[in-house]
Amino acid sequence: MAKNILVIHYSQSGQLTEILQNFCSPFTDSTIEWVKVEPLTPFPFPWNSAAFFNAMPETVLEKPIPVKPLLFERDQYDLIIFGYQPWFLSPSLPASAVLQDEKFRKIMNGTKIVTVLGSRNMWINSQEAVKKQIASAGGKLVGNVPLIDKTSNLISVITILHWMLTGQKTKKWGIFPKPGVSDEDIENVSQFGALLKEKLNDNQTDRFQEELVEKGGINIPISILFIESRAKKLFMIWANLITKKTAKGGNRKFWINFFKYYLIFALFIVSPIVLMIYHIFVRPFTGRQIKRELAYYRGTQLR
Ligand SMILES: Cc1cc2nc3c(=O)[nH]c(=O)nc-3n(C[C@H](O)[C@H](O)[C@H](O)COP(=O)(O)O)c2cc1C
Repeated sequence: MAKNILVIHYSQSGQLTEILQNFCSPFTDSTIEWVKVEPLTPFPFPWNSAAFFNAMPETVLEKPIPVKPLLFERDQYDLIIFGYQPWFLSPSLPASAVLQDEKFRKIMNGTKIVTVLGSRNMWINSQEAVKKQIASAGGKLVGNVPLIDKTSNLISVITILHWMLTGQKTKKWGIFPKPGVSDEDIENVSQFGALLKEKLNDNQTDRFQEELVEKGGINIPISILFIESRAKKLFMIWANLITKKTAKGGNRKFWINFFKYYLIFALFIVSPIVLMIYHIFVRPFTGRQIKRELAYYRGTQLR
């Protein structure tokens, strides 16, 4: 059955665009309207290190940036596909701007929404923020399709920084794995699009997420669950600290640099030690709680 679908997203490298194109490819009989979000002041791509870390405070505090006016052909859609990427465990600045845009919020009201993500591997906290924005606008989140880079956490930090700071989605020094979501996962996301199409046509979108999970569509490594459950609070503290210090005339560059070195230390020195202790002494005794948490984050409900 022909449907009117709105696909809205922002992408720097084009990775998320490719994911969305493949995800939408089964909707051959529907009218798909594509809206690309364009910040008034574009973010650099490739990034330089200073600009990359400088984006942290406002991203974490979800401050909306000015974007070019969003133009929609209709007032109502059968489905909205909202594509976004997490930055610093929060929706990216362009994504936050869209979620706080009054025009878009009106369109979300009463409409079914599916979120599609192209992330490194930490999307849980950002999805909670997105869920809240959708719920407060009256939207109905019926699905979430988060694609991640499946290589180990620390390796993917190195490879993604190589990608973000050079603009090349290539193997660093020819030896590291290719950064980002794998070509295979980008290609295979069309099967989840086909599932959504089927559920939409059968008026059974409420069953989409459940079947997506059954098909192995959501991958949450337990170490990532553990890190994410702690790290966002720390990022919040840093974001507020840097904002306050800067407002009082402090040197923003100094504090951003301080955060950068803190993050490198926390990721490469602290987290492996804490994770080892967690896996040996805590995880074996918290199996049920972990299962509950995984089930919650794989779903679309808001706690
Ligand atoms: C400033 C910045 C911060 C990022 N932080 C995260 C993060 O917290 N978690 C995550 O999974 N990916 C993170 N990423 C990776 C993005 O989510 C995304 O996968 C990547 O930027 C490619 O997206 P694109 O389609 O916009 O090119 C970050 C990227 C940037 C540029």
